[in-house]
Amino acid sequence: METYEKTIMVTGGAGFIGSHVVRFMVNKYPKYRIINVDKLTYAGNLENLRDVEDKLNYKFVKADIVEDEEMQKLFDVYKFDGVIHLAAESHVDRSIASPTEFIMTNFVGTANLLNAAKFHWQDDYKGKLFYHVSTDEVYGSLGETGLFTENTPYDPRSPYSASKAGSDHLVRAYYHTFGLPVKISNCSNNYGGYQFPEKLIPLFIHNIKNKKKLPVYGKGLNVRDWLYVEDHASAIDIIFHKGKVGETYNIGGNNEWKNIDLIRLLCKIMDRKLGRELGESEKLISYVKDRAGHDLRYAIDSSKLKNELGWSPSLVFEEGLEKTVDWYLNNPEWLENVTSGDYLKYYEEQYLNR
Ligand code: NAD
Ligand code: DAU
Repeated sequence: METYEKTIMVTGGAGFIGSHVVRFMVNKYPKYRIINVDKLTYAGNLENLRDVEDKLNYKFVKADIVEDEEMQKLFDVYKFDGVIHLAAESHVDRSIASPTEFIMTNFVGTANLLNAAKFHWQDDYKGKLFYHVSTDEVYGSLGETGLFTENTPYDPRSPYSASKAGSDHLVRAYYHTFGLPVKISNCSNNYGGYQFPEKLIPLFIHNIKNKKKLPVYGKGLNVRDWLYVEDHASAIDIIFHKGKVGETYNIGGNNEWKNIDLIRLLCKIMDRKLGRELGESEKLISYVKDRAGHDLRYAIDSSKLKNELGWSPSLVFEEGLEKTVDWYLNNPEWLENVTSGDYLKYYEEQYLNR
C-alpha cells in the first residue's frame, strides 16, 4: 500500500477555484494524498477534474460540510494532516436572493470543520494546519483610492461577504482560544477556466458567443481587482507551506478594472476570435438595474505576500483574458452542460425583470 507524507482534505474541490487547487496539489505533490470533499451543489462539477480523477493520490468524497457528524467521521477515517477549506456558497447575487444557505454553508459549515479538526488534532497540533480560503469582500467597499491591507477593518455588506467574514472570525477565534494552527488568505476576483457562468467573465463570454444581451449592473463603473485562478492556486500553495501560523495574507492581481472597460476589452477579444466585425459584440451591452448594496471598488495590497513569501502574479491581465476566452471557446460541451437545466431557470429569475 502506498504511504503518503500528508493527507489533505480540500473542501469545495469540485468548484471553480477548488478544482484548480486540487489539480495543482495532486500534480505537484505525488506524495500527498488529496481528499476532495464536496457536496456537488449546482456549482460543483466533477467534469472540472476529469484529468486528475484517476491519479492514485486523489480521492473524491461527496459530503456536506453542514453535516457535523459526517465531518467528524471523515476525520476519523482519513486522519487528515491538513485542511484547505474552499467550500462555500460564493455568488453575491444568490446571497441576496436567499441568504440562509450562505449562513449555513459558509458559517455553520466552517464551524463544523473547525470542531472536527480541533477534536482530532488537539492532543498534538504538530504538523497540522487548517487553511481557510476567504475573500477581499470581507473588507467592504473602497472609495476612489486606497487598498485593502491585512489590517483593514472588516465591513462586509452583502449576505455572502457577511457569512465569509463570520467564518474568518471563527477561524481566528479557534486559533486564539484553542491554539488550533490556522492560516487565512483573502483574495480578489478570480477568473479562468471552469468558472460557473453566473459570474461576470464566463457569463459574458457565453452571452457574447450566443449573441445575448450583456447585463451591466448600474453604470458599469464598479471596480474589481482580477487575478488569474492558477495564480491563486500557486499563492495558496506557498501560504500553505511557507506562511506563518495564525497569520492572514491578502492575495490580489494588482490589476484594477472598471467593469465597463473590462467588458469592452472582452467584446474586442471575442469579435476577433469569432471573426466578427470589430464593435459588433459591444452592441450587446445593456445597462440594467444595479445589484443591491453593490460594492463600488475592491483593490488588494498583496505586498505582505510578495515581500515575505516571494509570490507575485505570473500573467498580465490581457494575456490571462485571452487564455480564458480560448478555454471557453475550446470547451463548448462544458459550457453547454452547465448552462442547460436549472441554469436557465436561475437566469430568467435573475435577469428577466432587471
Ligand atoms: P464555487 O461556487 O465555484 O465552488 C464552491 C464549491 O463548494 C462547489 O464545488 C460546491 O459544490 C461546494 N460546496 C458548496 N456548499 C457545500 C457544502 N455545504 N458542503 C460541501 N461542499 C459545498 O466557488 P469558488 O468561486 O471556486 O470559490 C471557492 C472559495 O474561494 C470560496 O470560499 C470563496 O469564498 C473563495 N473566493 C472566491 C473568489 C472568486 O473570485 N471566485 C475570490 C476570493 C475568494
Ligand atoms: O472579490 C472576490 C469575490 O469576487 C469573491 O469572493 C466572490 O465569490 C466572487 O463571486 C466575486 O464577487 P463579485 O460580486 O465581484 O463577482 P461577479 O462576477 O458576480 O461580479 C463582478 C462585477 O461585475 C461586479 O461589480 C458585479 C458586475 N456584474 C456581475 C454580473 C454577474 C454585472 O455588471 N453584471 C452581471 O451580470
